[in-house]
Amino acid sequence: MNRNETEKDYIKAESLSFAYPDPQGGAPKQALKDVSLGIRPGEFVAVVGKNGSGKSTFAKLLNLILEPTSGSLTVAGTVITPSISDAEVLELRRRVGMVFQNPDNQIIATVVEEDVAFGPENIGLPPETIRERVDGCLREMRLTDLARKEPSRLSGGQKQRVAIAGILALRPECMIFDESTAMLDPVGRKEVLAIMKRLSSEHGITVINITHLMDEAAAADRVIVLRDGELIASDSPERIFSDPVLMGRAGIKPPQCAELCLLLRKMGIDAGFGLTPEQTARLILGSFGADGGPESGPAPGGEAAS
Ligand SMILES: Nc1ncnc2c1ncn2[C@@H]1O[C@H](COP(=O)(O)OP(=O)(O)OP(=O)(O)O)[C@@H](O)[C@H]1O
Ligand SMILES: [Mg+2]
Repeated sequence: MNRNETEKDYIKAESLSFAYPDPQGGAPKQALKDVSLGIRPGEFVAVVGKNGSGKSTFAKLLNLILEPTSGSLTVAGTVITPSISDAEVLELRRRVGMVFQNPDNQIIATVVEEDVAFGPENIGLPPETIRERVDGCLREMRLTDLARKEPSRLSGGQKQRVAIAGILALRPECMIFDESTAMLDPVGRKEVLAIMKRLSSEHGITVINITHLMDEAAAADRVIVLRDGELIASDSPERIFSDPVLMGRAGIKPPQCAELCLLLRKMGIDAGFGLTPEQTARLILGSFGADGGPESGPAPGGEAAS
């Protein structure tokens, strides 16, 4: 990814560290160590790494649930310091929304549209603005027909869309998804991933997707890899998932298509490198000189992973 250094980062971390204090007074648990990175406005970034590598800690720092132990963090032009006011924290939480793993923990109201209206009501918007936003967000999340339903009767994927609509109604600039597809079936996952892409590409929202699913990470513009609280790589999905040494260090597996390409390369067939089934099938056919090669279809990399 060609990072345009002149463009202002929406999120900027410099030597950012965080340690959880030990309640028994023992040594603090260092969860994030010296992380320096920038995320541009509207960028779609995936954060990957093994269990305990610091992904959720990073998300909580961005959402001001946690305060940096050392280093600096700037979110939406605001430098996060211990003296930040409560009003600034609330405003930043409106601008940076979080979607968690379990939609049941994020839905408050007993009717879908009331849940979506909860945030806008809380910040005191006039009723006509609330109505307009709620209707718009329900439409955007394809929930209009479910507006009067009880959230508890919806599927996991529909519930997650209600949670997303509730955040969108606050007009966020950035959305962080912390394993938000982990509890969904493949259809629900695909839907939520498509929403993430759309939020970034069509709405210019900065999207950060924390995930254990590498097929999902491959759909992002950039993949950030954490290992034991340290940032060990930040690069395009193609570069991350074609680097077996890096993946070994990080304890992650490549997406299935990338694994197949790497295996073929090991067997002496260098078909190229694909991240989606369509791309990979075309590359393999192409390497055997069959129809359907790269020259007969859309350029590799031109399609989104799904
Ligand atoms: N509240 C806490 N108190 C003490 N240590 C914590 C706390 N929360 C997380 N940790 C520790 O901090 C480290 C990073 O945890 P974090 O939850 O950020 O990892 P993660 O990458 O999100 O993991 P997972 O993939 O399991 O969600 C881990 O070693 C974890 O045990
Ligand atoms: Mg986590």
